[in-house]
Amino acid sequence: MTAPVIEATSLVKKFGDFVAVDDVSFEVPQGTVFGLLGPNGAGKTTTVRMMTTLAIPTSGSARVAGYDVATQPDAVRASMGLTAQGATVDDLLTGRENLRLVGDLYGLPGREVKRRADDLLERFSLTEAGNKVVKDYSGGMRRRIDLAVSLIAHPAVLFLDEPTTGLDPRSRVELWDVLRDLVRDGTTLLLTTQYLDEADQLADRVCVIDHGQIIAQGTPLELKNQSGATSLVVTVSRHDEVPRAADLVRGVVGDLHVDVDARRLTAPGAAVSELTRIAAVLDGAGIEVDDLGMQRPSLDDVFLSLTGHTAEETSNQEVPQ
Ligand SMILES: Nc1ncnc2c1ncn2[C@@H]1O[C@H](COP(=O)(O)OP(=O)(O)O)[C@@H](O)[C@H]1O
Ligand SMILES: [Mg+2]
Repeated sequence: MTAPVIEATSLVKKFGDFVAVDDVSFEVPQGTVFGLLGPNGAGKTTTVRMMTTLAIPTSGSARVAGYDVATQPDAVRASMGLTAQGATVDDLLTGRENLRLVGDLYGLPGREVKRRADDLLERFSLTEAGNKVVKDYSGGMRRRIDLAVSLIAHPAVLFLDEPTTGLDPRSRVELWDVLRDLVRDGTTLLLTTQYLDEADQLADRVCVIDHGQIIAQGTPLELKNQSGATSLVVTVSRHDEVPRAADLVRGVVGDLHVDVDARRLTAPGAAVSELTRIAAVLDGAGIEVDDLGMQRPSLDDVFLSLTGHTAEETSNQEVPQ
């Protein structure tokens, strides 16, 4: 096996007595996507900051592209790109000017910078917008120019801190496609996210982090399997029919959770084959439903099964930055 391109070994970061990152270790092979998944305040950004030389680990070590972040920070920086959580581009410059600025900072020749800027603008569907100031960009365009800027020096390793938080569903999917293309071209990607579906879509391996500690590592599928099987969910149209519907559905699936206020019946672990039987039984009884389908475990389900508390409860205990 070739050496991992990103490697964290027992990373710890303390702020005073508070341990923000607590003994985090992982390895990312070349050309793969690693997802750091966790709620607000879990320690994702702090981990990324240590991996990208922006914060000094209290203890432990990390290597990027074979270079040590503590002793070879310049070589690390030259090998990687970073799209931080907040926007990093200059609002008052155009997209093209932002690209050129960063290209110049890297010391690339002027003609090369121009060529790469044009390429990136085209690749991110920003050719036209390239001449507009970033201030006027939509949320999705902003994330794309952020990402384009972090790619100007052709980094072998890319760190993305919550790349799609705050984007509308369509922009998210578009960005996912761009990221898949990058990985296909050989880039190694570490991304942080609060969303299991994002990790699921993009990551080869995921590490779940909570209170600075890794609580699970594996493929997205392995994580979802740990958190219990898919549920079958029925949303009954009328409030007063919920009890009758519950009796009927219970007759098919056995174990059932009933949320009367939400008019929702949830059968954990039910099989897809039971969908049609439930549809038939409810239809036969003249009960209308708004929705009937399978629901895969969410990040909250994963969290709940791993930690005994939901991701939201965790966030509420933390004071956000
Ligand atoms: N510079 C800092 N000083 C003190 N506490 C910090 C600092 N940076 C982050 N923290 C705390 O460390 C924890 C992890 O933060 P962060 O890494 O930003 O989490 P995430 O990115 O997963 O939301 C949080 O409780 C946060 O408040
Ligand atoms: Mg963060």
